[in-house]
Amino acid sequence: MTLLLPFAIALLSKSEPVRPTQLKPLNERQMSWWRDAKFGMFIHWGVYAIPGKGEWYMNSAHVPVDEYRKLGDQFEPKFCDPNRWIQIAKSAGMKYTVLTARHHDGYALWNSPSSIDRFTSTAMAAKRDFIRDYVIACRKNRMPVGLYYSLMDWRIPGYYKPHELPESAQALKDQCYGQVRELTRNYGPIDILWYDGGWLNMHGTDADAAWLWEPDKLNSLVRKANPRTVINPRSGWGGDFDCEEGGSEVTGRIRTRPWEKCLNLNQTTWGYNPIQNLMSTNEVLTMLINTAVRDGNMLLNVGPDPDGVIPPTHAARLREVGQWLKKYGESIYGTRGGPLQPVDHQYGTTYHGKSIYVHCFGARDGVTIGLPHIDARILKSTLLTGGKAEVEQSAFAITIRLSRLTQTTPDTIVRFDCDREIGR
Ligand code: GLC
Repeated sequence: MTLLLPFAIALLSKSEPVRPTQLKPLNERQMSWWRDAKFGMFIHWGVYAIPGKGEWYMNSAHVPVDEYRKLGDQFEPKFCDPNRWIQIAKSAGMKYTVLTARHHDGYALWNSPSSIDRFTSTAMAAKRDFIRDYVIACRKNRMPVGLYYSLMDWRIPGYYKPHELPESAQALKDQCYGQVRELTRNYGPIDILWYDGGWLNMHGTDADAAWLWEPDKLNSLVRKANPRTVINPRSGWGGDFDCEEGGSEVTGRIRTRPWEKCLNLNQTTWGYNPIQNLMSTNEVLTMLINTAVRDGNMLLNVGPDPDGVIPPTHAARLREVGQWLKKYGESIYGTRGGPLQPVDHQYGTTYHGKSIYVHCFGARDGVTIGLPHIDARILKSTLLTGGKAEVEQSAFAITIRLSRLTQTTPDTIVRFDCDREIGR
């Protein structure tokens, strides 16, 4: 019996019945912790840190699969301590983290029996399960656990020619299902699953490739392991939130679905790159504010070096971001975007309970800002960033007159304490 049991369990998990459903996104209540968190750390790390030319190195430098594999023999990080990553995230005021468990190059940072040719950190030189260590560090520090996973894998010919090489494409799909199963079952409940690379043969949309991945089926497996995992939209299924990628400015109206801006602190590449082109502290904060007033989250990336160390320049910049959030975080964390629609480059609002936070950009002494009507009476106004704000509220509008400003970058924040709970 004892001998038969593991076999029976293996069989069961292989043939686990999955009923493809029209998967529903998580509801408002289930998403609330993620939406309250507002700010997370993205971590791109893998064997591509060795050449230091970014996570697309294998593809952009046309490195043959066998040649690229040798990086797995060299990848032996000396100082990798995920606790340290989490400490840096905390010092930045980040409230969740997402680590690249496996990027497009196929190298898995964990003990992955499903990995084709065992291109994994446990089977190769590192001899370490980094996902295990990362998950332990997150839990120890009460940091929600996020994992990034690329469905596609540049090593597999069926990825490039799924119709001509159906067996290889099937192997790729089996690897994907096996690995998602491993990641979502072997490390306890995963809070965020962040897919990437759902497209095929380097083009098309994720939705175009859904015929291969069957994302409904894949994500039913994820939901089965943990019904509360927050899932991004890049597997070809709409997911629980929308993604906006890259460093372009956030503008326009408040978005109607939960969404996340993901971008890179070092704008050169996501994966480690000694060529540094870091966003300034004010740029990071302006992006975060512009995202929050439009009801979004921001996931800011760092790329640890081959030893697993987040470059000190990144850590220093993140600490500065954290210092601002320590002072003014009440206008970001736990808020929702609104009640007023933002006006690009002028102002935007967030709210929480009976408070409204007006984030003003480019404010100057003596300037008057006109806001539209709100459905609440302002009982008290405070200029959080220092100075004087005279506020007048009429039946139709609000005016704020600013003077003696002590701080105008990244913004000037006025808090209204109102007579009732604010809603949009
Ligand atoms: C893109 C890139 C990838 C990066 C990701 C982050 O999909 O392929 O390198 O990991 O964006 O959003």
